[in-house]
Amino acid sequence: MCGIVGYIGPRSCASILVDGLRKLEYRGYDSAGLAILDTRAMSAGEPAKLNVVRAVGKLSHLDDALREHPLVGSVGIGHTRWATHGRPTEANAHPHLVGEVAVVHNGILENHVELRQDLIARGRKFSSETDTEIAAHLIDIELANGAKTLLEATKNALSHVRGAYAIAVVSRKEPDVVVVAKSFSPLVVGIGEGETFAASDVPALLAHTRDIIFLEDGDIAELRAGGAKIERLLVHGDGAPERFTVTPVVRTPKRVDWSPSQAEKQGYKHFMLKEIFEQPAAIENTLRGRVVLETSDVDGTEIGLSEEAVKKIRRVVLLACGTSHHSAIAGRNWIESIAKLPAQVELASEFRYRDAIIGEGDLVVAVSQSGETADTLAAVRDAKRQGATILAIANVVGSAIPRASDAALYTHAGPEIGVASTKCFTAQLAALLLLSIWLGRRRGSLPEARAQQLLQGLVEMPSHMREVLEHAEICQKVARRQIYTPEARDCLFLGRGLSYPIALEGALKLKEISYVHAEGYAAGEMKHGPIALIDSQMPVIVVAPKDQHYEKIASNVQEVCARDGRVIAVVTKGDTSIAAVAQDVIEVPDADPDLTPFLTVLPLQLLSYYAADLKGTDVDQPRNLAKTVTVE
Ligand code: G6P
Repeated sequence: MCGIVGYIGPRSCASILVDGLRKLEYRGYDSAGLAILDTRAMSAGEPAKLNVVRAVGKLSHLDDALREHPLVGSVGIGHTRWATHGRPTEANAHPHLVGEVAVVHNGILENHVELRQDLIARGRKFSSETDTEIAAHLIDIELANGAKTLLEATKNALSHVRGAYAIAVVSRKEPDVVVVAKSFSPLVVGIGEGETFAASDVPALLAHTRDIIFLEDGDIAELRAGGAKIERLLVHGDGAPERFTVTPVVRTPKRVDWSPSQAEKQGYKHFMLKEIFEQPAAIENTLRGRVVLETSDVDGTEIGLSEEAVKKIRRVVLLACGTSHHSAIAGRNWIESIAKLPAQVELASEFRYRDAIIGEGDLVVAVSQSGETADTLAAVRDAKRQGATILAIANVVGSAIPRASDAALYTHAGPEIGVASTKCFTAQLAALLLLSIWLGRRRGSLPEARAQQLLQGLVEMPSHMREVLEHAEICQKVARRQIYTPEARDCLFLGRGLSYPIALEGALKLKEISYVHAEGYAAGEMKHGPIALIDSQMPVIVVAPKDQHYEKIASNVQEVCARDGRVIAVVTKGDTSIAAVAQDVIEVPDADPDLTPFLTVLPLQLLSYYAADLKGTDVDQPRNLAKTVTVE
């Protein structure tokens, strides 16, 4: 996830672009850059110059670079990067300048490997590891081959790419336009008085205009100082008589009335709430390019293990801390049941100080949002020293844990700002399930038909998640009634099987942000202690979707009710038996029993969020906590 901006108008645009990027820095800050057209010599018959300045790190570094090499001109594009393809280096920083054009891009071009190979075969030289440079080459080729306008060249080029993009392009050949296009990644156009803007997000534009066009997927626009001409690009499948068709569309600007801070959160009160709602899109990003329904398989190129190496795995050891430890527990269950491999999950902070037996034949899966957690990193280094193969599941590209590992499977959930992890948790679940399926298919333990069911279920999951999130107000009411009460000083979260890590995660979320004491417990263990705590004041949140554990957990619910406990149950839609005895019920759509965690965790995140918001705590930066724990 990166931020892009564009400007065309009468003003000198370097500072406009940098100010816009500053508002988008929440989308990433691995590097930043500008490309600006200098048209001063044109009156003397000289061509325009296209100048680029880029710098690694935060925007202040770009400021420094621009002081040394000021950019002059009133047409330009800019980018703040959150690395996906390639390390955060200056060569990988955007804009990418190829021949006549400069391109900035947010997203992932899925077919980048084949396109790059093809371009190299055609003699093109690459100066970065990014997928974006491919788009710049493709547009440059189209211009060289006679495309009449930058718009036409961009359309032709984009008809070859698959994946997610918001791009902005400028060219020396046509210095009075900026071309932008959107597919999956966000992009808005701002309409000013004789000037036009583009940005990934509204906050970047609010200082200049509140008249915003929200581009839709497939839109491509030619921006001029006087406004935007928008068309819809529809790319047809291979073999169709026309590669693509284009139809003009009219998109009326909307007047937005957001304060700048509201706008950064896209109207949400807190980043955490925004990130909870981003989960369906985060999962789509984790799955993108990896699910291959045609062969009921997972594209596991990034996992980097040969078929031979997979056969040699004797055991999987999952290492993680905090929320990532909870997703790793679900991962352990899937690896056992789907890949039929012995698997264990370990708190990295404990594992590294034990005399744990680890070595060849062990696949260590290190799960970490930040990729920087000190204990996980130390445990990984230790396991590697002892001969284990290490696979990182991380969100931040190029971070320390993936670097210390043999391979990395990135979650691509975008930057997570709220300290309490939400979207990265469900994205980790998706990555772990993909890994389990990939292992299962290679080890012959997962029949094709079951793989197809799981993959189809995963692909459909974002829409089921949206359905749960559409009813968030139910969780708000339950939080008010059951958790934000003077009596509710402790809460118990219960689950079995895959709902056990969800219970742990629900309890952790509540503790972290609302400071209400909470315990997550395997429901079968309730009788061994926690049952003594249950009285009429104690909310007991039970995660009880329809799966193989349902009957057993229904009995646990009865045991809680018999002691006057207040049961809040997360159940599958249409459940009647637990619903008959629970005080409050939150329903989630029916799903494959292996996929319920993606749904059941959502109400728990929302309950915690609303309880904390009612209490007025600092939801995004709860006391004493840090997003990335780089101390032991
Ligand atoms: C901190 C964060 C948690 C996170 C944990 C592990 O405690 O506040 O949200 O789950 O670290 O972080 P990691 O980046 O390794 O997933």
